[in-house]
Amino acid sequence: MWLGIVSLFPELVAQAADSGVVGRAVRNGIVDLRLFNPRSYTTDKHQSVDDSPYGGGPGMLMMVEPLLQAVEAARECAPVAPRVIYLTPQGAPVDQQRVSELSREQSLVLVAGRYEGVDQRFVELAVDEELSIGDYVLSGGELPALVLMDAMVRLLPGVLGNAASAEEESHLDGLLDYPQYTRPENVRGLPVPELLLSGDHRAVARWRRQQALLHTWRKRPDMLAERPLDDRDRLLLNEVLTEVLKQELGEAFAAVEETEGAKKQDH
Ligand code: ADE
Repeated sequence: MWLGIVSLFPELVAQAADSGVVGRAVRNGIVDLRLFNPRSYTTDKHQSVDDSPYGGGPGMLMMVEPLLQAVEAARECAPVAPRVIYLTPQGAPVDQQRVSELSREQSLVLVAGRYEGVDQRFVELAVDEELSIGDYVLSGGELPALVLMDAMVRLLPGVLGNAASAEEESHLDGLLDYPQYTRPENVRGLPVPELLLSGDHRAVARWRRQQALLHTWRKRPDMLAERPLDDRDRLLLNEVLTEVLKQELGEAFAAVEETEGAKKQDH
C-alpha cells in the first residue's frame, strides 16, 4: 500500500509510524509511507499556512493553496491515482467495515488538518471522503490519521504473524472479542475457566462464541441491534444468559439470606 500523509507535523507522524506493527510493515516495504508538509509549498517569507476566517470568529483556518499543492505532490508521487481522505470531526464515522475496505486500496492520501479546520474550498477541490474517528474534537488530524493507518496496516497481507488473528477478532463479524487468558493458571485466587484447559477444541470454540455474544449483549447492545443473530447464535446466547441469570439470582438470594440471618441474630 502506498500511503501519503499530509501534515504540518510530519515528524510526529514519522515517529509514531516507526514502532510496532506499523514500523515493521514500513521497514518490510509492505507500506510505502510518504510525508508531505504543506509548509514546504508556501511562497511568502513567513511560510504561512493559516489565516483568519472570513466573517470573523475564533481561531485560524488552514489556507487552500499550501494544502492543495501538498496533495498534488502526493498525487504525483503515488503509483496509482490515490483516494484523498480528510480527517475531521465532521466526517463519517470510521468503523471496521470501512477500515477493511480502505485497506484494499492501492494508494491513499490522508490529510491531517490543524487549527480550527480548513478552507471549505480545499475539501471541494481535493477531498474524496471525510472521515471522523469519533465524536470528540482533537487539536489536529495527525492522531486520527495514525489511528486509521494503524487499523488498515494490520489488515494488510503479511503484516500480522498469524493471518487468522486479524480475521478472527473483535468487530469484524459485528461482535466483541471473547475473553482470553495466559499463564499462570491461577492469578490471586482467580482461575482460568476450566473448559479452556480441556483440550476439547470444539467445546472451546463454542464457549468463545458464547462469551463473545454475552459480552456484546452486555457492553454493546447497539451492535446486536444492528446485526440480527442467526438461530445458532441466538440459542448460544439464550443458553449463556440463562446460566448467568441463574448464577446472579442465586448470589442475590444468598446475599438476602445472609442479611436476614444477621438481623435475626441481632434480635
Ligand atoms: N480532527 C480533530 N478531531 C477529529 C476526529 N474526532 N476525527 C477525525 N479528525 C479529527
